[in-house]
Amino acid sequence: DWNMPDYVEEAIEKIRAQVGSDDVILGLSGGVDSSVAAALIHRAIGDQLTCVFVDHGLLRLDEGKQVMQTFAENMGVKIIHVDATEQFMSKLHGVTDPEAKRKIIGREFVEVFQDQASKLKSAKWLAQGTIYPDVIESAGAKTGKAVTIKSHHNVGGLPDTLKLSLLEPLRELFKDEVRKLGVALGLPPAMVYRHPFPGPGLGVRILGEVKKEYADLLRRADAIFIEELRNTVDAATGKSWYDLTSQAFAVFLPVKSVGVMGDGRTYDYVVALRAVETSDFMTAGWAELPYSLLGKVSGRIINEVRGINRVVYDVSSKPPATIEWE
Ligand code: XMP
Repeated sequence: DWNMPDYVEEAIEKIRAQVGSDDVILGLSGGVDSSVAAALIHRAIGDQLTCVFVDHGLLRLDEGKQVMQTFAENMGVKIIHVDATEQFMSKLHGVTDPEAKRKIIGREFVEVFQDQASKLKSAKWLAQGTIYPDVIESAGAKTGKAVTIKSHHNVGGLPDTLKLSLLEPLRELFKDEVRKLGVALGLPPAMVYRHPFPGPGLGVRILGEVKKEYADLLRRADAIFIEELRNTVDAATGKSWYDLTSQAFAVFLPVKSVGVMGDGRTYDYVVALRAVETSDFMTAGWAELPYSLLGKVSGRIINEVRGINRVVYDVSSKPPATIEWE
């Protein structure tokens, strides 16, 4: 039987015994795993932990602000916040192939992180939010048993040249245990129970070439969709549509279509809404969101986000479609 307060105490003791008085660095992404790892390690060793938060310019609306608020302001965690938007955008310039974009974002991410880490000369440990399913997956990938269709950048990519030892306090935990641990450590439940967000972020939700202009439009459309999902409660279950779906987001389509606004004609971009229900993310069904909800989201996006004049809903299941569009 799994007792949370005991588990937290044990985990803290283990971290203290492992690192002693050494300094630790951790790459904070805003995702659940690295967030919980940061909270746990900070609880154990306080200021011996420094987090590096790399903003690649492909995060969701206000995500950077939220990470800084939660960790730096509320918890007093030391964080180096790097805004690397320009660097990522220039590397992505002209690149349209999804896997090529993933590789560039992953490589750049490691480079920026490594650059920061090498400045922290006292650090002896690199902490990562590796969880049990990651351990299984990467073991499988090495022996060629499991097939990872898309390259993920959250596992691996450990910069060898840094000569750091690995600290992975979540290695034995499943996702639901990590979430419970996060709540026990005082992280906001809305953060801990968030839908998964891919490492390459909006980079794979902007089809084809990534541009800052596209990312800015997509962020605002996506935030409206998520806000309405959170605020709309399904009468039958009493749950919000955010909680009833496993993953939901907006996708930017770099094609223009004609619309009318007032007396004028518009010629603007299209946004697709994607919402799925799944238990394992290997197969997924499109969510049967209420028409009234879809209508409200569409109306708000077109009215509030100048530059988007058409919203469509994705009714494809996985397989044969994937959850992401790239
Ligand atoms: P697909 O699109 O393959 O997505 O049906 C399945 C799940 O994996 C997530 N995903 C990624 N996560 N890096 C990540 O960290 C990636 O490159 C990546 N690609 C897909 C996707 O969001 C979904 O939850």
